[in-house]
Amino acid sequence: MCGIVAYSGKNNSVLPILVSGLKRLEYRGYDSAGVAIFSNNIIYSKKAVGKIVSLEEVINKNSPLEVGNVGIAHTRWATHGSATIENAHPHYSQDKKIWVVHNGIIENYQEIKEQLIRQGMRFESETDTEVIAKLIGSLYKGDLREAVLAATRLLTGAYALCIICEDEPNRLIGVKISSPLVVGIADDEIIIASDVSAIIERTKKVIYLEDGELIDINNTTYDIVSFHNKVKKKAISEIDWDLETATKGGYDHYLLKEILEQPQVIKDSVRGRIVNETADINFGGLIEVRSRLKQIDKIVVLGVGTSFYAAKLGELYFNALSGVPAIAVMSPEYRYTKNIINDKTWLIAMSQSGETADTIAAINEAKKHGALVTGIVNTVGSTVARITDAGVYNHIGPEISVASTKAFTSQGVLLLMHAIMLGRQRGLDYSEASAIITAIKKLPDAMQEIANNHQSIESIAKLIYQDKNLLYIGRQYNYPIALEGALKIKEISYIHAEGLSGGELKHGFIALIDNELSTIALATNDSVTDKMHANIAEIKARHGKVIAIANQNLSNVDATILVPDVQSDFVQPLVNNVILQLLAYYVAKLRNLNIDQPRNLAKSVTVE
Ligand code: F6R
Repeated sequence: MCGIVAYSGKNNSVLPILVSGLKRLEYRGYDSAGVAIFSNNIIYSKKAVGKIVSLEEVINKNSPLEVGNVGIAHTRWATHGSATIENAHPHYSQDKKIWVVHNGIIENYQEIKEQLIRQGMRFESETDTEVIAKLIGSLYKGDLREAVLAATRLLTGAYALCIICEDEPNRLIGVKISSPLVVGIADDEIIIASDVSAIIERTKKVIYLEDGELIDINNTTYDIVSFHNKVKKKAISEIDWDLETATKGGYDHYLLKEILEQPQVIKDSVRGRIVNETADINFGGLIEVRSRLKQIDKIVVLGVGTSFYAAKLGELYFNALSGVPAIAVMSPEYRYTKNIINDKTWLIAMSQSGETADTIAAINEAKKHGALVTGIVNTVGSTVARITDAGVYNHIGPEISVASTKAFTSQGVLLLMHAIMLGRQRGLDYSEASAIITAIKKLPDAMQEIANNHQSIESIAKLIYQDKNLLYIGRQYNYPIALEGALKIKEISYIHAEGLSGGELKHGFIALIDNELSTIALATNDSVTDKMHANIAEIKARHGKVIAIANQNLSNVDATILVPDVQSDFVQPLVNNVILQLLAYYVAKLRNLNIDQPRNLAKSVTVE
């Protein structure tokens, strides 16, 4: 997804600062990049298709770009028009004096474009962003803030914008609606970015801009105003992520780092939230809605992609433990189920990034129907965190690799804890709650045992890395794990995989089984193990290959991956999933693929 970095300050080498910020945003996924900076009172711009290194090569050919203390930069993930130099940001006004970078989508850009064309403007790109630049240019009468505010009255859609103007050399403006923008405040400089990763290298003091706010920076001073030009006072927050946290920590890939750090981060997710004496859960972020929870009669767990599979797990947890019926809904499908939502519904929105447009749209809709909406979100200050009534953070640090791993595990644990919390209000007995809590506490050690021996999964990966198709089967709580395991291998290995319930096999999938198809079977000890063994037998009888994930060696399979037994049907699937994450990682590594930035994917999908 697109990324923005903009700088204003006393440092005269704005270019390396912008480029370094863009590199911190690479994990979001992009296909072109560009910068525009003031240098000798003129705005210079350079753009390149492909990675930041290509942009650096272009920049290095041009010396005037080196000095300057105000600039804007962008990584673009193509939406309107393909990845070309013409479509790359920054875009400029007709007279080339006003330059704009933009994240988001302008809904009425065609209409505005036609009006501007009638006024004699010429367009060079297919983007909606160029329309913004030309529009601001057409409204400019000597004061950039006035022109931008006037433009906000005409634009509809989602946008985070940073804008500079050749006639106002020390001015930088940032503005946002429905797309994130964070402002880093240091002694001698101000950095604006679409997320904090691009800022933490220079400062940990940040202001999160809200929808309908504009920051007007003049060198190192600033005003934040509403779209009605009323000055607003905003608190400065301190980020607790350091740069080290956001880097690879010595591993070859962020993905491996993020899989292996789960024992630690899951402790962080759980920390301070378990009340041992009463076998209860205490989420500080839900205190203010606790009395409202007593009135709810239905739960909707919302998410998309990996967050949806966590939601499926949550549905099962709530139905088993909470005494309230639950259903998982995939965010983009929400609009077709909204009739079931009312003021007695508790909607729990799952989103690692907190910026997923489909999830945000569903939340806004659910709020209109009176639902209590809370979130389970990793990114502090993100849109989902702000628009929900209350919520719980994952506390797992940034997830840089595009494929989600540690967020899933944390979402699963936190949903289980939500189910215990509600269950304890509604009759879940002490001993059952206590047994699950004991298993949750075993989870980090079990994951550590797997992490200590993670290289051993490579030998299993060698059995399947050249396959074209795979099946993943699980039952009950392992069913969402089968779905997530299949998604993970699809995403990073580009092997077609299907996740299904073991019980579904006979109803169609079994037709695929032959001696070339491998099935990954989740067969750890639980109340449905016997049924899973029967499914494995069905596959073996048709000469299919089976790799089992189990607590002891199984005799009738081609390979068994052993996992520690945490003795809980609820928690064991989260242990099993770590194996599927590692399997996907090693298969992708053997296939020599771009593991952290798989093709066609973006970390944060901020368009519907
Ligand atoms: C899968 C993956 C995506 C995300 C999905 C939702 O590995 O990363 O499927 O899970 O785009 O993202 P969030 O959780 O940020 O709302």
